[in-house]
Amino acid sequence: MRKAIIAGNWKMNMDINESVDLMNTLVPLVGNASVEVVFCPPYLSLQKAVEMAKDTVIGIGAQNMHYEKSGAFTGEVSGEMLQAIGVSYVVLGHSERREYFNESDEAVNKKALKALELGMTPIVCCGETLAERESGAAKDKVVGQIKAGLKDIADIEKVVVAYEPIWAIGTGKTASKEEADQACGWVRETIASMYGQAAADKIRIQYGGSVKPENIKELMAMPNIDGALVGGASLKASFAQVVNF
Ligand code: PGA
Repeated sequence: MRKAIIAGNWKMNMDINESVDLMNTLVPLVGNASVEVVFCPPYLSLQKAVEMAKDTVIGIGAQNMHYEKSGAFTGEVSGEMLQAIGVSYVVLGHSERREYFNESDEAVNKKALKALELGMTPIVCCGETLAERESGAAKDKVVGQIKAGLKDIADIEKVVVAYEPIWAIGTGKTASKEEADQACGWVRETIASMYGQAAADKIRIQYGGSVKPENIKELMAMPNIDGALVGGASLKASFAQVVNF
């Protein structure tokens, strides 16, 4: 049985004061949820979030990290630095990072390996553009991202994958539950071809893209969907309705 995992990706929202307010609102509402809950605030709020989530089921994740431990990488933050403050998850290869910061599958792979080495759970994102979906190239795109981003991983079942069609992110346009499930199935098949069916049966796959209280239940009822990566709807009290679907 795969344990459901629902993560909130705050993106570049919430300064430290706003983060504390949001944590104060959400921790009592989701702090003893039955699913695995993850909050991914901006770097500057991580340490405070870890402190405020102590003694709850909420895990704290970063939205990115560098794969090197330290060195001349101005502006970057390493996995070791995140680990030192108690961060236990990290979102990797989000489509916004791929699009605006040229993040490649190779970099995602190095980061995923590093996160696992540090005992952190990587949430590795994949997903196609609208043009790719309309031209029938969605499957190739997703399969390619998984093959390159998740290669040579010893403990693949510790990875969480988030399938997020780019056309559904922040647009209010959710993939239908069938489309979402089908694409999560492509991810699972690809993992099976790389690591065997047993590993594929264990790995958790989230859907992301305009998930909200109104659609979470039907998405979670699909066989290949084990959770959600939530952007906009994770910034308000009603995120509790997504978590406690
Ligand atoms: P959204 O973002 O829920 O605002 O569509 C999802 C994401 O980018 O992870």
